[in-house]
Amino acid sequence: MPNGEIFSLNLIYGYLVMCGIVGYIGNRQAQPILLNSLSKLEYRGYDSCGVAVQGSAIEVYKDAVRVQELKQALPRLSGRLGIGHTRWATHGEPSQINAHPHLDCSGKIAVVHNGVISNFQRLRQQLTSEGHSLVSETDTEVIPHLIEKHYQGNIEKAVEAALGELEGSYAIVVLVAGEPKVIVARKDCPLIIGVGDGENFVASDVPAILDYTNRVIYLEEGDIGVITKDSIKITRGKIRVDRQEHRISWSREDVQKASYEHFMLKEIHEQPKAIRDTLGEYVLSTEPLIDLGLILDPNLEDLSILACGTSYHAGLIGKYVIEELLGIPVRVELASEFNHCRRTIPSTATIVLTQSGETADVLTAMKKLLEAGIRTLVITNVPGSTASRVADQTVYIKAGPEVSVAATKTFIAQLMMLYQLALSHPGVNRRICERLFAELRQLPAKVQQVLDNEHQIVDCARYLSEYDDVFFIGRGINLPIALEGALKLKEISYIHAEGYAAGELKHGPFALLDRDTPVIAIVAHDNTYGAMLTNIKEVKARKSPVIALADEADEVIGQLADLVIRVPCVSSIFSPVVNAVALQLLAYYTARCRGCPIDFPRNLAKSVTVE
Ligand code: F6R
Repeated sequence: MPNGEIFSLNLIYGYLVMCGIVGYIGNRQAQPILLNSLSKLEYRGYDSCGVAVQGSAIEVYKDAVRVQELKQALPRLSGRLGIGHTRWATHGEPSQINAHPHLDCSGKIAVVHNGVISNFQRLRQQLTSEGHSLVSETDTEVIPHLIEKHYQGNIEKAVEAALGELEGSYAIVVLVAGEPKVIVARKDCPLIIGVGDGENFVASDVPAILDYTNRVIYLEEGDIGVITKDSIKITRGKIRVDRQEHRISWSREDVQKASYEHFMLKEIHEQPKAIRDTLGEYVLSTEPLIDLGLILDPNLEDLSILACGTSYHAGLIGKYVIEELLGIPVRVELASEFNHCRRTIPSTATIVLTQSGETADVLTAMKKLLEAGIRTLVITNVPGSTASRVADQTVYIKAGPEVSVAATKTFIAQLMMLYQLALSHPGVNRRICERLFAELRQLPAKVQQVLDNEHQIVDCARYLSEYDDVFFIGRGINLPIALEGALKLKEISYIHAEGYAAGELKHGPFALLDRDTPVIAIVAHDNTYGAMLTNIKEVKARKSPVIALADEADEVIGQLADLVIRVPCVSSIFSPVVNAVALQLLAYYTARCRGCPIDFPRNLAKSVTVE
């Protein structure tokens, strides 16, 4: 377990929260930089936001609004040093008073915080009895007051003493009137420093700072940093530590919408590139080259895959692929179920799928695996993420930053990595392997074909947008695509959608079928084909409209279904890729017809750091 020592075991029993935090110190005006950076972090929460800028005094502006609205309402705050926050409420409703930054009594210490202070009730009582006046319902507000309590002329010592009293999780940035520095600290919540020339940045995540720098330092558990415009000093347990600077390959264009109306559409259209980049050198080689590490173990008898949400659906497809090609049993576990309902450890090695690398359920599960001595291979999109630092081995998908809350290109890139993993195993028949590798290289072009034909999907979306309930049905390797299609539709269009094994409809859901409940049937040209056609006839007999997803060569489906979405012909094992892209577009255009806020669906955030 090479990196395990930097993984705080407290992390996973805590309840972690989203929220985005930023900081700036340099020669430029802080306000526009803070607001721009915050707008890149709204995927972490967007029920309220605020900034504090240090001029001659600290000025705080905050409200229960989106960053764009705050930007319009803000007066010009003059100062070259400031902090900001975009919130996902936990303690106290979204309101101006509960929004961050929070101040101490004197108004000289401002704090933004991501995390949960679990002993805040006790601290609050204590602080109140000592004469501090706390005005919000948040746990965060105790932090500036504790710092104030401990302040005796040295802010670093005061922050350190305050942190010593906190239980729970935090990433914080502290701003103090008159001090040309910001103090940062993290425990169980991510925090990075963006390194510039004569200026430095702080953020919860890389996209926030990409407009300004691609040089990043990842703070580690227990680190406290003192940042001026020209220096970065990091200590851990009072001892000075060096943290490596990383160059990020993501560009600022990657986190801009370009000419697309939504990030989701842009990210769907980036999928041919995400496939090419994730396959990388492997796609050019005649030999699979991936470093399988633990998966290469010749004694490997079984494998489990652990994930949540869309990543879990990728894991289910991975199960089909690995079982088919390697002939070893694979168990796919929902991390949240594994954490609370399973006493036994599923297998000797585990693949962890998490695009963000920060999902609390996944991190908790990893702790359990770590304690049981199970080897873990993490597949993630985010360099430096917590999961990547905990795992025995990490491989990166190369999807580039994904801003829209709904996962699209990271899902497809996860599939690419799973295909590579399976195909790279020496146990796979070489002839089959070469044939499948050759086809894998064609997938960017096949996905491009789906994108080029999106007009057919727009028509179906218009039709679907009128309904309130939808079923997605699939079989075999496309059953997870039915689940994923339903998840995408419900999360961004708010239409109730269920993914179902086609053969299971008759065991209950038939009761719900009628002319007001469309069924989307994923028809694959494999051994499930005949059974799926039978299922479609059964559905039609109950008067449900059917939209079929079928390949271009299918001459029968047009006679059975009301509408057909055509996808290019590929081998069954790769059919989830083209089908998933078509269903992403279907969800996207349906949500658009219904006027939904596609990139930021209600109640959801991109990194789910709560259990
Ligand atoms: C849905 C979606 C979520 C995530 C899930 C796991 O579009 O994005 O279901 O897949 O929250 O997130 P990661 O992969 O970051 O662990």
